[in-house]
Amino acid sequence: MDRRRFYDWLAGYYWFVGLFDDYYKKKALELFELKRGMRFLDAGCGTGFVLRRLAGSALIFGVDSSCGMAASARRRSGAHVSSGDCFCLPFRDGSFDVLFCSFVFDIFDFSEQKKILLEFSRVCAPFGLLVLVNNTRGKGVFSWLSGFYLLLSRIFPKVFLNKPIDASFVVEESGFAVKKRQVVGFTEILVCEKMC
Ligand SMILES: C[S@@+](CC[C@H](N)C(=O)[O-])C[C@H]1O[C@@H](n2cnc3c(N)ncnc32)[C@H](O)[C@@H]1O
Repeated sequence: MDRRRFYDWLAGYYWFVGLFDDYYKKKALELFELKRGMRFLDAGCGTGFVLRRLAGSALIFGVDSSCGMAASARRRSGAHVSSGDCFCLPFRDGSFDVLFCSFVFDIFDFSEQKKILLEFSRVCAPFGLLVLVNNTRGKGVFSWLSGFYLLLSRIFPKVFLNKPIDASFVVEESGFAVKKRQVVGFTEILVCEKMC
């Protein structure tokens, strides 16, 4: 099963993943302010948890490469959600004040991450924000847990797609400045500003 079909299938059961992940997305939403009139994009929005929480607060858009995920997000959030690829987003240059991306960036390898960041930078307005939520290597017991998770992702690469990464380096190399970094368990939240 290819990745897109896997996510189409997962869309029906994604509430279960949300039991583990939604907490981190809520934490990330506390780290920046969204004002009325601002344009917000959730790239790889899944079933639209973040879009639902932000409904009515700004101009909210979502995009996901899985039609099943995009349809679910559209139905549940009422936001403008399109099917599209993070490598080639269906938006004009500088369209968004805030670009949010949770548990998507860590699916890709380093060279793909660089390409995605180029695309994020293109659609982000000057001095716009990029908010990334990823699996990372935690500290203490979480270091052990993230190691275990990495092992699972090597044994079952088609199921455990999100690998622990350290995104700061590639983000800063790609023209964003990391303004805030929080590690909760083995999840990293980065709030970055696009440099001009
Ligand atoms: C682990 S889920 C995370 C969903 C959501 N962001 C969340 O935090 O609940 C990964 C999502 O990324 C989407 N995705 C994977 N590759 C993508 C790509 N190249 N472009 C856009 N979305 C992609 C998948 O369809 C899936 O909905």
